[in-house]
Amino acid sequence: MSRIVIVSNRLPVTVKKVKDKLTYQQSVGGLATGMSSFQKDYQCLWVGWPGISREQLSAEEKSDLFEKMEQMGNYAVLLSQSQIEDYYNGFSNKTIWSLFHCFTQFTVYDNHLWESYRQVNQIFCQTILDIIKPNDILWIHDYHLMLLPNLLRKRLPNLSIGFFLHIPFPPTEIFRLLPWRREILEGLMGADLIGFHTYDYVRNFLDSILRLRGYENSLGHVNYQNRMIKVDSFPMGIDFDRYFYSTDQEETKNEIQKIRQQVSHNKIIISVDRLDYTKGIPERLKAFSTFLEDNPEYWEKVTMILVAVPSRTDVPQYQNLKKQVDEMIGYINGKFGKLGWSPILYLYRSIPFHELAALYYTADIALITPLKDGMNLIAKEYIATKKDATGVLILSEMAGAGNEMSEALIVNPNNCTQISWAIKYALNMDDKEQLKRILSMQKRLKTYDVKKWSEDFKENLIKIKNTQKSLSAKFLSPKNRLKIIKKYKQSNQRLFLIDYDGTLAPKYYKFKQYEPSPEIIHTINLLIHDPKNKVVIVSGREKNLLEEWFQSTQVDLIAEHGAWLKKDSNEWKTIEPLKKEWKEQIKPILEVYTNRTPGSFIQEKEYSLVWHYVNTDPTFGRTRAMELMDSLTYLTSNLNLEVIHGEKVIEIKTTGINKGLAAYQWISEKNWDFILAIGDDWSDEPTFSHLPASAYSIKVGPGISTSKYNIQSSTEVRAFLKELALKYKSTKQMD
Ligand code: UDP
Ligand code: G6P
Repeated sequence: MSRIVIVSNRLPVTVKKVKDKLTYQQSVGGLATGMSSFQKDYQCLWVGWPGISREQLSAEEKSDLFEKMEQMGNYAVLLSQSQIEDYYNGFSNKTIWSLFHCFTQFTVYDNHLWESYRQVNQIFCQTILDIIKPNDILWIHDYHLMLLPNLLRKRLPNLSIGFFLHIPFPPTEIFRLLPWRREILEGLMGADLIGFHTYDYVRNFLDSILRLRGYENSLGHVNYQNRMIKVDSFPMGIDFDRYFYSTDQEETKNEIQKIRQQVSHNKIIISVDRLDYTKGIPERLKAFSTFLEDNPEYWEKVTMILVAVPSRTDVPQYQNLKKQVDEMIGYINGKFGKLGWSPILYLYRSIPFHELAALYYTADIALITPLKDGMNLIAKEYIATKKDATGVLILSEMAGAGNEMSEALIVNPNNCTQISWAIKYALNMDDKEQLKRILSMQKRLKTYDVKKWSEDFKENLIKIKNTQKSLSAKFLSPKNRLKIIKKYKQSNQRLFLIDYDGTLAPKYYKFKQYEPSPEIIHTINLLIHDPKNKVVIVSGREKNLLEEWFQSTQVDLIAEHGAWLKKDSNEWKTIEPLKKEWKEQIKPILEVYTNRTPGSFIQEKEYSLVWHYVNTDPTFGRTRAMELMDSLTYLTSNLNLEVIHGEKVIEIKTTGINKGLAAYQWISEKNWDFILAIGDDWSDEPTFSHLPASAYSIKVGPGISTSKYNIQSSTEVRAFLKELALKYKSTKQMD
């Protein structure tokens, strides 16, 4: 079985120097806790930073650290003090963390920090190159290492690379503020599978690569540099059983007792987070204060236990937040407190597992109201710990977890009146209702736990790798190329069916009125020059334009996706008498859409109508196209029309007309001993499927097709056709 190598900035164990001695502590944060159980199950190697600077370690301590880490299945990447300052505190936490959580007011754009980020991603890349083994699967995590997938891809083109982002991916309008947005997107696209917690983040990412880099997707599949990559959502789960059964353990029972002694019979509200401005702690305190203000009957009856785990304490925003939270707690306790009762018990430290589980278990309410949060595992852990116990989860709609936990009381974290009301509602919710909500959330958490989540991710990574392999197996190898050339030489009646846009001409010519280059005309003429060859251009373009373009070649032509045929320099003809009265009915609908979609336009062909949206805003155009498809499918149901959604076009034409049917007029003409069909998109598939088994068919690009082979680009198509034509010449000379 392949070994899995996890890579993240922070290792699951953080090293600190306390009184000149190295101490090893479990790291905090969703990534570390979530992936730790995966590491145990799969015994995989974890590469990351141990949380201490190189300068703080003597040579002896360094080797001690490496050895201890190795025993725990970790491989330490050491960083200097200045790298920690510029890459970790700097670009990762002052630029990406704030921007991706939509805190643009805190985002710092600084070239020096960016340089450090690039440098450290390079260091991770080199480390992995040193330790990676053939067949390893690499799973890179989070925003600190977004350049790493492509750095590795350049060095190891076939490596299986998965990337998972644990934080939100922001809307394009926010993401595009980043001066290095291109590098970040290209960095990520080095991965084979890119995962996010929610579909919203997937959509934002796909929208960004489309708008900012021009990459289209089809159901989350993106063709990036001739490699098919997949983008999908995988909502991270938790180690459900660990929390569910935690209260069976003596250590947890002891902690439960201690909490009870401390707060007596008061109702307990817990608030647990890293001390981070994204978590909405001041807003939550304000809401709690409002609740106390509005509901004096709850004084001395409710206690909030607020756990704030120190985090990124060298970043000014976190220092300011600490001051603000300290002051607010002091104010609330001072204002409402009585002898023997403080409304808030404040712990500014990380708490061990059994203490945390005991808190979850005893809490009547978990108040989790982040302003923005990738997922929020605390919400899930709270619910999972409630084995035969009541409790109410009040959860922010801005947390990724909000999508899956609809039985929680969902609140807007900025609405302190609503939160205060939700607290009161929760305190009055009857036990039956509480249990009902808990049970239904537990069912989902148990089914899609962290093990299932990671297996799902891993399986999807393997699957996309296999798809890539089967697609690349079809790429025309030198051996198959020779086979075709040999057959060409031996044959006397040869038919070529060649699409124009994206096949003879490069893809970016599409929908622009560029005429064929002299090289294209020359290639066609080289082929036609041989009396054994019959060449047909099989295009979707209008007949008059094609005729004008290819008048110097005497090539046969198929125009408008098979509606018109031109053979042996004869007049144009249609396969059957076609109707066109329907155009008067359909055109007004297209006009409405054109007026409402800036940049779109209608093309009227003799037997078809085409709505182009290539020049519209990509996302808007796509949405409009979906709407138009919907309306057309309904309106054309009794008109014997076909509606085809192609690349940035919607084409409406009489049913039964396609390139394949038209091409068949040539295919069936005689007993060809060599047929070669080449095309690049959906409209060429009918041509491929009308071919006899002995024919050769080639699709341009890596997409899925019924063709026998794939070829990289139109440049290669032209080179191959020229090669065939010239080989003939040499044979003739030899003859
Ligand atoms: N956690 C912890 N010790 C604490 C408090 C929290 O280990 O004192 C863990 C908690 O169990 C959870 C993680 O930290 O798994 C926090 O993850 P979450 O997704 O809620 O937020 P993040 O910190 O990743 O933003
Ligand atoms: C979030 C991030 C993690 C990070 C954790 C703790 O969960 O997604 O990547 O490890 O916070 O933050 P820290 O800066 O201490 O690693």
